[in-house]
Amino acid sequence: MRDTILVTGGAGFIGSNFILSWIGAAGARVVNLDLLTYAGNPGNLSSLDGDSRYQLVRGDISNADLVSSLLREHQPRAIVHFAAESHVDRSIASPGAFIRTNVQGTFVLLDQTLSYWSKLSEADQAMFRFLHVSTDEVYGSLGPDDPAFSETTPYSPNSPYAASKAASDHLARAYHHTWGLPVLTTNCSNNYGPFQFPEKLIPLVILNALEGKALPVYGDGKNVRDWLFVEDHCAAIRAVLERGRVGETYNIGGNSERTNIEVVKLICDLVDEMRPALPSGPRRNLVTFVKDRPGHDRRYAIDASKLERELGWQPGERFENGLRKTVRWYLDHSSWVESVQTGAYLEWIAQNYTERLAI
Ligand code: NAD
Ligand code: TYD
Repeated sequence: MRDTILVTGGAGFIGSNFILSWIGAAGARVVNLDLLTYAGNPGNLSSLDGDSRYQLVRGDISNADLVSSLLREHQPRAIVHFAAESHVDRSIASPGAFIRTNVQGTFVLLDQTLSYWSKLSEADQAMFRFLHVSTDEVYGSLGPDDPAFSETTPYSPNSPYAASKAASDHLARAYHHTWGLPVLTTNCSNNYGPFQFPEKLIPLVILNALEGKALPVYGDGKNVRDWLFVEDHCAAIRAVLERGRVGETYNIGGNSERTNIEVVKLICDLVDEMRPALPSGPRRNLVTFVKDRPGHDRRYAIDASKLERELGWQPGERFENGLRKTVRWYLDHSSWVESVQTGAYLEWIAQNYTERLAI
């Protein structure tokens, strides 16, 4: 076994932030298995071009032969599994891909990992880790006064995305319980920061606000999410990988519950501050309430006290400051933005918003 880790989905939003922080902090080798779907962008990691510590393999986690040969060739000491279909609205429009990647793909990855792990020496087996990255959405929706989700909150997924992630969590758990595979699972709240594909609320609103376009807010805008700066998520994953107890799950959150309308208004104010005013006035005027998402979860909140107690992790970034950095990043990276606002993005925007904005 070598000092290499295998990351899946490392060309996506969180995965690419994680690889950059991992190589920055640990300096060890990373092999990135990514299918490069619409959400995967190898350019996120262009700063590692020519770096022998990084290798991208374009391929599907559902391809058992490919996964098996990568494990044999690279002998990783850990797998950090990010690869997924990740957008709730897309899971409502076309759930099939979510079942294929999130459920079947995770199954193939676990199964091939088990067969690799079983052949390791006892010492290497004890050191090996499979970290399964999941979401708080598996726990369902909270009322305004409910306590935050803890690791013992019963699963109650509401969207096809959440259901597919819940299924993958159960498979990860079963591979640990049945065969002793050293699995760790993390359930995280909404991330934001650099490299997020602009189909998700925060980057979508930043870019629309910049261009003076309508800012689509679903329903009454009072749904609540807990926001975590992506670098804090990456630090939490590193802590769980290094010091987490095998077989455990850890919730990761930002202690930053905000309604969607609060988030959108903050972004408007930041873009107004950093860019010239629009002839139509303050960007808050662009807020447009549109048809709600079917089955829209009302509130997510995370109790991350287990992670703090056991591993000493806490989120470092205050939401308003992290949001400022994020808006600045999108304004400063117009060529990245142009490179992702292409075919698949434009098709999705037309499909998701034309009918919504018409009401
Ligand atoms: P993303 O959609 O930005 O990236 C997903 C990546 O997976 C892409 O690079 C894509 O090409 C790749 N991929 C998709 N299908 C694949 C397949 N079959 N084989 C190999 N690669 C494939 O997602 P993200 O926002 O970076 O999320 C990463 C993980 O974190 C996901 O598992 C998601 O469920 C979880 N998560 C995300 C958030 C969030 O707020 N974004 C919060 C909690 C948990
Ligand atoms: P999103 O970023 O898609 O994350 P998730 O659904 O996984 O929480 O959405 C965050 C919140 O913003 C969610 O309550 C839905 C809402 N939303 C809008 O109001 N308008 C939009 O255009 C989008 C994409 C999301």
